[in-house]
Amino acid sequence: MFLKNTWYVAGWSHEITDTSLFSRTITGVPVVFWRDAQGRVAALPDRCSHRGAPLSRGRLEDGELRCMYHGVKFNCEGACTFVPGQERIPPGANLAPFPVVERNKWVWIWMGEAAKADPSLIPDTFWLDSPQWHYKPDCMHYDVNYLLIADNLLDFSHLPFVHEKTLGGSTEYANVRADVQHIDRGLRVERWFMDAEPAPFVKRVTNWTQNVDRWNMYDFILPGVFMMDSGSAPAGTGAREGNRVGAVQFRSAQALTPETENSTHYFFSQAHDFALDDPSVTDTVHASVVAGFKEDWDMIHAQAGILSLDPGFKMMPLNVDNALGYFRWLMGRSISAEQSLARAA
Ligand code: FES
Ligand SMILES: [Fe+2]
Repeated sequence: MFLKNTWYVAGWSHEITDTSLFSRTITGVPVVFWRDAQGRVAALPDRCSHRGAPLSRGRLEDGELRCMYHGVKFNCEGACTFVPGQERIPPGANLAPFPVVERNKWVWIWMGEAAKADPSLIPDTFWLDSPQWHYKPDCMHYDVNYLLIADNLLDFSHLPFVHEKTLGGSTEYANVRADVQHIDRGLRVERWFMDAEPAPFVKRVTNWTQNVDRWNMYDFILPGVFMMDSGSAPAGTGAREGNRVGAVQFRSAQALTPETENSTHYFFSQAHDFALDDPSVTDTVHASVVAGFKEDWDMIHAQAGILSLDPGFKMMPLNVDNALGYFRWLMGRSISAEQSLARAA
């Protein structure tokens, strides 16, 4: 079950062009994307209204999409504009377009009731489109339910164990309690790790040998958007009090978009605001993050494999699970509320 009346990240802006059709399944619904001559993103069900062929196997003709099974054509708004062999466009030929908004290099899509699609609900990821921050956009595909990945992102105590040699560092990191607050549609998690060795990926871009004060502060909001301010500063220079002079700072934007109940699109980026004239730093930061995320991928797939063998298995709650427990509760409550409203309508 998925939340429908919410904005999902459908993809990075560069994935959708005016020269080819692009298909992605979101919350179990196949969607076909392209751009019109003005650069606007079109998003239609990837299922022809005639006999259900995938429109993504079709052809773009002057900004319109022709189904390459029997030649029916659709425009960007989903209106059927041509049916071979007949003048009349039959009722039911049109397709309902999905609301989409392109903002800060992400294309957001609303899979629920179009009338409820409010762009002001889209989270602010301004650094994805700012010259002050450099990053490489990326995505991974998971063959697991999105909630297992949300669990992982909501509990950083896994860092020194899963990511010992990449993002993690000392096991002491896992002993620091994170501060967790409930915010509108999600959580804010803050963790400070004071006077400790720099994480391996920070050493790689700074050559620091001295201890640092390290922070991870992030918002995680429905349906699975992660926005993090993180960094390290030489220990004792007042980063926790707000002084970030001499610090290395990162901004991470990540989004979980369910493909099906058992698969997920995972969009991510790790931007940095230092050494902006050195593209090798962007490459190194990105490579470290990818190496770390592959470690998550391995662990979460292995976990999903074990869980699939015994659906009756009960997870044992620990203190570190407070954020993910709340998120699962919030997601469950939001889906139930949406479904009750739909039943009452
Ligand atoms: S299935 Fe598309 S035109 Fe027939
Ligand atoms: Fe991780």
